[in-house]
Amino acid sequence: MRVLGIETSCDETAVAVVEDGRKILANLISSQAHLHEKFGGVVPEVASRAHLESINPLITMAMVEAGMWVADIDAVAVTVGPGLVGALLVGIAAAKAVAVALSVPFIGINHLEGHIYANVLTNGPIDEPYVCFLVSGGHTMLVHVPEPHLYELLGQTLDDAAGEAFDKVARFIGLGFPGGPALDRLAQTGDPEAIRFPRAAIDRGYDFSLSGLKTAVVRYVRDERAHVREPAPEDIAASFQEAVVEVQVTKTLAAAADKGVRTIVLGGGVVANSRLRSLMAKGAEERGFELLIPPPELCTDNGAMIASAGYYRLQRGERTELDVGASPGLPLQAPTSERDPA
Ligand code: KG4
Ligand code: ZN
Repeated sequence: MRVLGIETSCDETAVAVVEDGRKILANLISSQAHLHEKFGGVVPEVASRAHLESINPLITMAMVEAGMWVADIDAVAVTVGPGLVGALLVGIAAAKAVAVALSVPFIGINHLEGHIYANVLTNGPIDEPYVCFLVSGGHTMLVHVPEPHLYELLGQTLDDAAGEAFDKVARFIGLGFPGGPALDRLAQTGDPEAIRFPRAAIDRGYDFSLSGLKTAVVRYVRDERAHVREPAPEDIAASFQEAVVEVQVTKTLAAAADKGVRTIVLGGGVVANSRLRSLMAKGAEERGFELLIPPPELCTDNGAMIASAGYYRLQRGERTELDVGASPGLPLQAPTSERDPA
């Protein structure tokens, strides 16, 4: 079964074709980062307009890439939330149009579930139960998954998402937008022990908090400058990254041990971070957990992860009504489809 996957929840227009939930036939991404850069963040109206301009050409290009006709699509999966309402609506409208024109099944997918399924594209179906750490530009959460598509929230951020904090600190030290990848690169030349930033919310169970750490970075730079010292950006980057990642790894390992699972799964754009990947791999190995991490290019937003999640839900006989709208604040636990009575 060839599923068309469409993702427009934020600032990437993404279209993919995935066969049987795993085989990527096409996975195209049109990034709008250059349009948002001068504003230092994603501007919703700019995002919606750019999606509108890109979506149809991208679908056509995906067909060329996959070597097929639109008529060869067997089902359509689309992100229905969470995300920017206007941005989501563009993808949803395009997906409905294709599904109606071809009379093929249609399924709405939660963007966060998509991030989990980036692992399925790489490694095949994941054996439950597992603990998943989801970390992106909009979310930081620890989730227990006892059975397929059942999500129990263990903890989440009380303020900024990790990606958001990476982007803000990156901007503060003069890197572009989105700053996460640039900060990661710069940190590789810095000393993670140079500055001892606070390990935020280490004692707050499975919840996270990053606003204090962000403030600590700003205060450190101001104090240094007050003493006519210019702090090295690479040391700030490496020390900040270390403070974020150390807490994330500690909490994820603790949650997995607590829930008695064997497997830890990572998902979301921040999982592209090299230090998070290596520290989590080390911790999981020491504690005897199996660790699943998508390759960096499948960690950030893409259509293939949506097509994969869609395939597995469709296989269970699930469908989404064609009158579904965008759900900007959609929780991971909320249903996006129902069993087809037919
Ligand atoms: O999942 P994603 O592509 O979009 C959302 O659903 O939010 O995540 C994007 C976020 C951005 O904040 C970006 O800066 C961050 O992921 N990111 C990284 C890295 N690559 C992407 N953060 C730290 N290190 C990276 N290598
Ligand atoms: Zn995402």
